[in-house]
Amino acid sequence: MYARIAGTGSFLPKKILTNADLEKLVDTSDEWIRSRTGIEQRHIVEDGETTTDLAEHASRNAMAAAGVGPGDIDLICVGTTTPDFVFPNVGTLLQSRLGIHGCPAFSLEAACTSFMYALSVADKFVRLGESKCALVVGAETLTRIVDWKDRGTCVLFADGAGAVILQPAEEPGIIATHLHADGKYKDLLLYPDGVSSGFKLVREGKAGVQMKGNEVYKVAVNTLGQLVMETLNANHVRKDQVDWLIPHQANIRIIEAIAKRLEMPMERVIVTINTQGNTSAASVPLALDTGIRDGRIRRGQLLLLEAFGGGFTWGSALIRY
Ligand code: ACO
Repeated sequence: MYARIAGTGSFLPKKILTNADLEKLVDTSDEWIRSRTGIEQRHIVEDGETTTDLAEHASRNAMAAAGVGPGDIDLICVGTTTPDFVFPNVGTLLQSRLGIHGCPAFSLEAACTSFMYALSVADKFVRLGESKCALVVGAETLTRIVDWKDRGTCVLFADGAGAVILQPAEEPGIIATHLHADGKYKDLLLYPDGVSSGFKLVREGKAGVQMKGNEVYKVAVNTLGQLVMETLNANHVRKDQVDWLIPHQANIRIIEAIAKRLEMPMERVIVTINTQGNTSAASVPLALDTGIRDGRIRRGQLLLLEAFGGGFTWGSALIRY
């Protein structure tokens, strides 16, 4: 038994923040942001708009695309680092919004790799016959935890959500997922505050995402390069057999480096970072849905999804769409 993608959906908040808007907030320039990251604009939530709001819209779009209703969903798995509350988890908040009752619903957190982890977990439920219709979501409101005075990070991050519906199939589908983590890198990219540490920095007004950008960049390129080769080799797939690379959208230069490692022209890479920025856990399902809806990604094609994030965590999925 395998899991196949029956439908995808995504959602971006209406409000747009351009590089010109950021020039008014911090000492930066449109030229610097474009040339170093590839980002031209990003979508951000309004006051009161939450991760669950974005997840709900993306989920409804995915359910419509798959032709399923709330009564069909028997598993909800949400990847997010920016939940509405400590609890109930975003999975259950989403479950309530969608009018679904009784099925397992949870969220898991692996920073920008959260969706890859969620997809891998849900894939196993479907393969084991424990789910016949799984809703898998990556949703973030990362702009809520950004330090808007730190030009090194606030220009990068953005908000959004993407969702997929998984159903059982005789053939893959999801051929394989590969997940990794190494906590020795915990100090390079972090938001060092939370419940059991007492929200100390939040109370002092000093909280925010912290990143040693240069070091993250180097490890990300190296690690993702190894990850895509591990994924191809483990599944006996040649580079030229992959139709689409669907990468985490952190930096266009990282994306180009991985495409080069795969000897893939950029025409076969789904890029959304220019208009969407880095939406963390939402970026891969957003890119996937973008490519499917604009007709580039077609049924039967071979897709390679990959992501990298704080922890560090990293993961990939090889999918016959
Ligand atoms: N505008 C103008 N100047 C800036 C800005 C800005 N927004 N940010 C930093 N600078 C300055 C720095 O202060 C530095 O100035 P200095 O030389 O006078 O000290 C100079 O630009 C160069 O800074 P670097 O950090 O070396 O710039 P770099 O070329 O490495 O680009 C960037 C920075 C874009 C953050 C890059 O390192 C990067 O993309 N790293 C990876 C980040 C990433 O992928 N994060 C997320 C992965 S996981 C996840 O998605 C959560």
